[in-house]
Amino acid sequence: MKRQNLPAVALAVVAAVVLLLSTKAIPSAAAAAVEHTFVVSQMNMTHLCKETLVTVVNGQLPGPVIEVTEGDSVAVHVVNKSPYNITIHWHGVKQRFNCWADGVPMITQCPILPNHNFTYRFDVAGQEGTLWWHSHTACLRGTLHGAFIIRPRDGAGSYPFPKPYREIPIVIGEWWEMDLVRVDNDFLDGFLDDEPIAATINGKLGDVYNCSGAVEDGYVLDVEPGKTYLLRVINAALFSEYYLKIAGHKFTVVAADANYVSPYTTDVIALSPGETVDALVVADAPPGRYYMVALANQSPKPDPQIPAFVTRATVEYSNDNSPGNSAKALSSSRGTGGGGGGPSGDVPVAPEMPDQHDTMTSFYFHGNLTSLRHARLPPVPARVDERLIITLGLGSVCRRGQSCKRSGSNESIIVATMNNVSFQLPTSTTPLLEAHYYNTSAMDALQQLPDRPPRVFDYTDRALIPWGPKEAQLEPTSRGSLARRFQHGSTVELVFQGTAVMQSDANPMHLHGHDMFVLAQGLGNYDEARDVARYNLVDPPVRNTVHVPRIGWVAVRFVTDNPGVWYMHCHFEFHLSMGMTAVFIVEDGPTMDTSLPPPPADFPTCGHDDNLARDEVHIQTKKSEVSRVEGE
Ligand code: C2O
Repeated sequence: MKRQNLPAVALAVVAAVVLLLSTKAIPSAAAAAVEHTFVVSQMNMTHLCKETLVTVVNGQLPGPVIEVTEGDSVAVHVVNKSPYNITIHWHGVKQRFNCWADGVPMITQCPILPNHNFTYRFDVAGQEGTLWWHSHTACLRGTLHGAFIIRPRDGAGSYPFPKPYREIPIVIGEWWEMDLVRVDNDFLDGFLDDEPIAATINGKLGDVYNCSGAVEDGYVLDVEPGKTYLLRVINAALFSEYYLKIAGHKFTVVAADANYVSPYTTDVIALSPGETVDALVVADAPPGRYYMVALANQSPKPDPQIPAFVTRATVEYSNDNSPGNSAKALSSSRGTGGGGGGPSGDVPVAPEMPDQHDTMTSFYFHGNLTSLRHARLPPVPARVDERLIITLGLGSVCRRGQSCKRSGSNESIIVATMNNVSFQLPTSTTPLLEAHYYNTSAMDALQQLPDRPPRVFDYTDRALIPWGPKEAQLEPTSRGSLARRFQHGSTVELVFQGTAVMQSDANPMHLHGHDMFVLAQGLGNYDEARDVARYNLVDPPVRNTVHVPRIGWVAVRFVTDNPGVWYMHCHFEFHLSMGMTAVFIVEDGPTMDTSLPPPPADFPTCGHDDNLARDEVHIQTKKSEVSRVEGE
């Protein structure tokens, strides 16, 4: 419509640009339709002498890799042969004007019931790099996950870094012997003692684990001397942030969350659940065998402790390409290294890992990333329309009535909160996105996410960590269907402030449907007067998951240009199950093309047995036991 008013000169310019673009597009691949079938089913797997029933896609753990080229259309036919209600979320895929395909049960869709199918259809546009997919129900993502790789349209030659010889997904995960749905129920009930058995790399536990002398298999990355490898690292674990190192090698980090970063050379990568990191590794060490180690970090005591989870893979040089067997020559001249063996000896060289309680290595890693100036990089919005400060932490609600004993008493349930409210799904049997789209009264059940913490205190006071009278004052919280509405096209500045009540965990905060500019992070309490001056408005990293450091804060900006109902939550699964979640509702823009189109014709319905649908999702909490407004 507007176009009709364009003067002829402008039209000519537009035509020329279109012509230019289309000529430029000739060498690149045409947009393709990528199709996959995901059969979700249960199977037995044996690790550490124990057979465990796990829910997987196509019998694989990690699940299948989806590889696409930017601009492709994707169709994934999900065939649910598991006993659970399932949705699949395409973590980091922006789903522009297609919130329907975002895969969050009872938020964007009714789940796919057992023995039902649904096809997710979406385009992957304007993004390239490493993302992943996972189920979004009841901790099942512990085994229902896989890599989602988007290659540039103009081929690997158009990477803003030297073209790698090979590209390798490295998926960090966990092996659980407990039933994951039961784990979810425990978290819902504030029972926090469930733990995985082991950490994994590409589904393998590695040789740090053995059962009666039978050593677990580890992932092996074969490399050729002198070649460059692009590791596409994904943290798919439910529980922990991990440090990744390879003995004798450095990483050059080139992207994070499918956004290019200025090349950053480091010997250690830190990534929280939900985050991805692309890093180049040059096989430039003396040929031999080197351990790639993933170690979970955690806050030190008095925070509650879990075992130190560690796993390792091996980087092995092939000797075929080294004429004269330089491997032996080099290794004998070096003797046995500090890692407990020469590079070509029987024992691979081991890297020296950070301490498991060292959370500063993660703080520096995250703080050292900046965006690469790149054609795709949008400018940092300078004007801010909405400012929010959100505290992240633990609290408790009473099982019955308005008052109860706290600090781990059985009278109260420990929950996780944002601005002191713990999320619960509305009781409606219509998913929120449909309720929003059709503007039904179900939306009335939502509770506004406050713009500021309702209680101001010294959020990061370490004396609040141990359970007892001091933190008990701050424990009372409530439950609600926390949501915040944003007008289309607003720039939102959000400060996530970690708190130390009952524990001092970091929080990987993930926003669906949007990337965030990470302007600054800091330790202690955010202070607007002081900290705004520290914002990086030039080349901040752009991420879908923002690691809020332990006892600290992060400030982000994002533009609400994608209408829909978007989940925003901590990607530690226990925090998510316990309610560290809110829903961001982005309203339609003024035109058809800035509005959410109608749902797909074959969209799942929740069916008549809606209670079944919701209960199986297990995000819903036991409402009979907990009244809406508890505590103070
Ligand atoms: Cu990785 Cu809500 O998702």
